[in-house]
Amino acid sequence: MNSDKNSMVAQTQTQTQSLAVVIGASGGLGAALQAQLERDGHHAQVLGLGRRTDPGIDFSQEASIASAAQAVAEVCAAANLELRLLIVATGFLHGASGQPERSWANLDVGYLEHVFKINTLGPGLVMKHFFPLLPKQGRCVAGFLSAKVGSIGDNALGGWYGYRASKAALNQLVKTASIELTRRNRQSICVALHPGTVSTALSEPFAKTGLNVRPAPEAARDLLAVLEALTPQDTGGLVDYLGQKLPF
Ligand SMILES: NC(=O)c1ccc[n+]([C@@H]2O[C@H](COP(=O)([O-])OP(=O)(O)OC[C@H]3O[C@@H](n4cnc5c(N)ncnc54)[C@H](OP(=O)(O)O)[C@@H]3O)[C@@H](O)[C@H]2O)c1
Repeated sequence: MNSDKNSMVAQTQTQTQSLAVVIGASGGLGAALQAQLERDGHHAQVLGLGRRTDPGIDFSQEASIASAAQAVAEVCAAANLELRLLIVATGFLHGASGQPERSWANLDVGYLEHVFKINTLGPGLVMKHFFPLLPKQGRCVAGFLSAKVGSIGDNALGGWYGYRASKAALNQLVKTASIELTRRNRQSICVALHPGTVSTALSEPFAKTGLNVRPAPEAARDLLAVLEALTPQDTGGLVDYLGQKLPF
């Protein structure tokens, strides 16, 4: 009886709680996702990371991704937390490095390098440095903000060569990593997410009338509900904000 009681005390003391990390927390969707996670209270701690946080993550510097992962590992060890939810909400479509292309005539190496660095290589390096922190047992979820325009099967309009290609390549990284992650943890889920058209700085110049442009808090609620409902059978897919599986 006494020993049962002692083992229960030991179990309570060693029980871990969950940590959710949002990378790209300064963005329209990232900030809304972090705020919604904090409101939900499903995770003992929610950590938002970005270029201006401490530790900071800048996809131009792999060392910053490695250091941030190390810092998260230390937070987990100190507070007995496990990284159960990882959301990568970073992305680039337009800015100082250029604009999305209407034609092959507009293809520009500088823009292409930048769009691939932010939309593909950065998330890939997040896999490299953060996936080892995901628990080897029990449900854990990694969601990468992608886009329906990255779907090759769905491409009927053309244009946006670099953005489309960088997201198609991200989807392939997600699929490939999901297979490796399942070998490590059969309860793991790793997906690419399409948030719909959402009112943020990224979509602002392109949010034409006629498009269903939704506020970021609404999109964040939908995406978190989708992530919660996913099962390990869904891993590796591209899923939209309604939970519909989209073609690659
Ligand atoms: N909004 C839409 O309609 C829509 C539609 C489909 C898919 N998506 C996807 O959803 C995701 C989030 O988009 P959003 O609309 O929230 O865009 P956003 O408001 O422009 O946010 C972009 C995020 O990416 C970060 N970022 C940019 N360059 C970076 C770098 N070098 N290193 C690290 N982080 C960097 C930004 O950080 P800083 O604040 O430091 O610049 C910011 O946190 C993207 O993957 C986007 O492609 C959005």
